[in-house]
Amino acid sequence: MTTDSRWDQSAMVERMSSDFGRRYPLAFWEFFESQVRPRTGDAPAIADLGCGAGLLLQELSSRLPDATLRGVDVSKAMLANARGLDYAGVAPSFTLHDLNHAPYPVEDASLDLCITANVTCFLDNPLVLFAEVHRMLRPGGVYLLFDWKRQTLPAYVENRGGFGDDPAALMGLQPYHNRFTVDEWHWLLAEGGFELVGEAHPRTSHVALAGVPG
Ligand SMILES: C[S@@+](CC[C@H](N)C(=O)[O-])C[C@H]1O[C@@H](n2cnc3c(N)ncnc32)[C@H](O)[C@@H]1O
Repeated sequence: MTTDSRWDQSAMVERMSSDFGRRYPLAFWEFFESQVRPRTGDAPAIADLGCGAGLLLQELSSRLPDATLRGVDVSKAMLANARGLDYAGVAPSFTLHDLNHAPYPVEDASLDLCITANVTCFLDNPLVLFAEVHRMLRPGGVYLLFDWKRQTLPAYVENRGGFGDDPAALMGLQPYHNRFTVDEWHWLLAEGGFELVGEAHPRTSHVALAGVPG
């Protein structure tokens, strides 16, 4: 089962879009500019896996107008929204694909930056994803993982964000959001063959990690 079939997609598109500024605060962009962007160059090839409604790609297009962008997601509704946005640079290409299944529709050694944001916690086996990130990155490329970190249930409810008024969504999502501790994310990345080169905690509930193939 994927998130495409489990949750109301139009509500998710609306939430991902209207809540973008809170979900990607200034501290995230400080991390991006200081610890990720110095490794990408000015015209990188970037893939956002689990790109959702496209807001992150739109912001990346503003910051890096010469980038070549692509988005991958399992949700047709998310991709339809992402396709309809305006982009500062060349519009991204989009592909419908379930990240639980390798290989992904991206060429070997073709990316300078691969991003997964708020999606890895939903995947059956993150190591399948990490092996694919390895395959798709060029030498010198960087992987940015931005995701939830495990909190106590009261802390999770306190930091719940945009779905706080929907108890069913809250309790349905928390097993995914609360799946891995920061140490477990470190362990998974090491198991996946990544050396950690950057880390930040832009939100109480989230960790941002930059890794390079080790
Ligand atoms: C919480 S949203 C995050 C979207 C976007 N990355 C962001 O941070 O705004 C999770 C996204 O991952 C996608 N997703 C979940 N499971 C997936 C899978 N197995 N394969 C591809 N995409 C998946 C969902 O469709 C959704 O668009």
